[in-house]
Amino acid sequence: MNTKVIKIDSDNIDEKSMQEAGDLIAAGELVAFPTETVYGLGGDALDPKAAEKIYKAKGRPSDNPLIVHISKFEDLEYIAKDVPASARKLADKFWPGPLTMIVQKNEKVPYATTGGMETVAIRMPNSKIALDLIRKSGKLIAAPSANTSGRPSPTEAHHVAEDLDGKIAMIVDGGSVGIGIESTIVDLTEKKPMILRPGYITPEMLSEVLGEEVVIDPGIIAADDTKKPKAPGMKYKHYAPKASMILVEGEQSKVINKINELADEKSKDGKKVAVIATEETKSMYRTDVILSIGSRQDEDSIARHLYKILRECDDMDVEAIYSESFKTPRIGNAIMNRLLKAAGHQVIHV
Ligand code: TXA
Ligand code: MG
Repeated sequence: MNTKVIKIDSDNIDEKSMQEAGDLIAAGELVAFPTETVYGLGGDALDPKAAEKIYKAKGRPSDNPLIVHISKFEDLEYIAKDVPASARKLADKFWPGPLTMIVQKNEKVPYATTGGMETVAIRMPNSKIALDLIRKSGKLIAAPSANTSGRPSPTEAHHVAEDLDGKIAMIVDGGSVGIGIESTIVDLTEKKPMILRPGYITPEMLSEVLGEEVVIDPGIIAADDTKKPKAPGMKYKHYAPKASMILVEGEQSKVINKINELADEKSKDGKKVAVIATEETKSMYRTDVILSIGSRQDEDSIARHLYKILRECDDMDVEAIYSESFKTPRIGNAIMNRLLKAAGHQVIHV
């Protein structure tokens, strides 16, 4: 299949091109598009055949449910069996935005989309291009991240092309995304609201709006397999670069010394080594490949560059990666959740 790439300026959307993209979705084809979090691989959410195509293109197990993207609040009622008061409150406050809510599904949503589950994940993205695509398609759009299963999520259109060129009908190139890590997932079908995947919207932010405690799925905190995460997708080894990766955490000067020491050893063995540093520390390393992920003064910049940097390591055929640790104040948990997975939970404390 020939994958057509169209460039769209979100401040001046080309109506004709976007309609072409919308028509492809309506015809049951797949279109990758930008959201504010990461690029999504979209298909008609209520068409089981489109869901099957998505799983096939990504090489994703079909028991891993998809998020349904909507463009208007009524669509929540349209596909949910019942809409809990908590969902209304959160939608009012955070939609459109990087929050996915899990509610009971109704009969309109096929099991192919929910991986056989009775619940459905719903999100209204805060991206002009994504919202326009949903409207123009006249459909609801099921969209996982637009990467091959197991690779870092795409934050630029060329990342999508690397993974899916030839496998999907179209890529809408809207430039780099704003946030860079996937949406927060909150499950509203339990007694207490439960975070199944940490993201830009923190438990504290949800708790403030709901006026009740928001718990975190114990399965995503455990470093081992003793507890199973509730979101099927969180159990897979995700976001993995090809190289082995180790995180070093502790006091900054000690971290730098340790990483330099480990990197020297590996380099002596003839291995290609990369260090993931920050704007503040990048000049303190001496390996060939030093990648700055962003500034500690701006934690959003760290989230935004995370996946891009992991992909760069793959592109350069790096064999070992040593990374600083980023327990930043607000979204540090969301960043570390991705990095720990990429590192297979290999952490050295100094
Ligand atoms: O930011 C995002 O959420 C991006 C953009 C494209 O919107 N999408 C995304 O989709 O990250 P995906 O498929 O890569 O991740 C969806 C996650 C998976 O871990 C999946 O298991 C979980 O959501 N999920 C979906 N439906 C669920 C459900 N009914 N119950 C529990 N987990 C669910
Ligand atoms: Mg994904």
